[in-house]
Amino acid sequence: MTRTVYLDWNATTPLADEAREAMLAAMQDGWANPASVHGAGRAARAHVEDARRAVGDLLGFDPRDVIFTSGGTEANNLVLQSLFRDGAGGLVTSRLEHPSVVRTAEALAATGVRVAWVIPTEAGRIEPGAVELALRDLGDSARLVALQAVNHETGVIQPVLEVADLLKRWSGARVLLHCDAVQAAGRLPASTWAGADTVSVASHKLRGPKGVGALATRLGVRVHPVLRGGEQEKGVRPGTQDPVGLAGFGAAATRARSGPERYAALRSLRDELEASLVAAGALRNGGEPRAPHVTNLSFSGWRGPELCAALDLDGVHVSSGSACSAGTAEPSPVITAMLGKARAASAVRVSLGETSNAADMSAARQTFLRILDRT
Ligand SMILES: Cc1ncc(COP(=O)(O)O)c(C=O)c1O
Repeated sequence: MTRTVYLDWNATTPLADEAREAMLAAMQDGWANPASVHGAGRAARAHVEDARRAVGDLLGFDPRDVIFTSGGTEANNLVLQSLFRDGAGGLVTSRLEHPSVVRTAEALAATGVRVAWVIPTEAGRIEPGAVELALRDLGDSARLVALQAVNHETGVIQPVLEVADLLKRWSGARVLLHCDAVQAAGRLPASTWAGADTVSVASHKLRGPKGVGALATRLGVRVHPVLRGGEQEKGVRPGTQDPVGLAGFGAAATRARSGPERYAALRSLRDELEASLVAAGALRNGGEPRAPHVTNLSFSGWRGPELCAALDLDGVHVSSGSACSAGTAEPSPVITAMLGKARAASAVRVSLGETSNAADMSAARQTFLRILDRT
């Protein structure tokens, strides 16, 4: 039987045992509506509030400032749509961001918001100087900079703290900083998103269940609801919370506090695979500083999706872009923004995770080299 090697941890992660156990327990005693005032409701609410504490601790925010959402996409939409709900003001962002930011920014631009798109370097980084130029361009209309902590396709770490400092100097903190930390939380230390006013996180990237996530907001930042409904999540995100999903998210978030150590240990495995593929002719996309578990490589003569399909047939699961764009004919917008369409068309992302080991990497390397050799 072919050995299966899962190297697509940036798409999603397997549920942790701790999360599964917490969810099973919540299925027993957390089935009621967490907004109900009776005992059954209080038992369900306890799961929700435990999770809020765990997520606040992981992100370094007061739990009272954690708003639960259906995931990273909703958290990004919530902050952007909320801050520009009047169709005015200016937003600084870039095409390195996840589609939940890029497409929301494009939709906001259509309503009259001024969007300044920062051009990334070829190494996939947003330079604070380029953010400053964009801010100057927007002048007093600037309201928000949206800058991710870690890129989902290249693993490049963005200078969030430097941009936070820049905003303080430039606008006295009048312009807010939103950080999509979906690919960073549980993998890199909290310093990666330090200084941000609002932070998005998704449970399924840190070994919790899918369909739950959060937006954390610094005290004093007001977020307005996009959905209309009840008073859940202080009225900012109406809709009955899922105590089972949140119990899993909470357990995964607690476990994820030691995630950065586990991820740091993957660096040598990633580097070895990367070095052997580069020696076989691959070109690396994305410079340093980089998360220790990701490599993005272009393979001349290949189309990324075809190489992924060939690898998949031999049991190696990688991707040629973010999972949410899979199936689209367009090459990765991230690699396109950095290095152009041709390079993007042949790009493949390999992302390791907590259970990746030397045997997996050796199998992956052999499979890659065998397939590349066939051309
Ligand atoms: C950087 C980043 N932001 C946001 C998201 C969206 O999160 P979710 O899948 O929870 O909607 C993803 C998912 O791939 C991501 O990588």
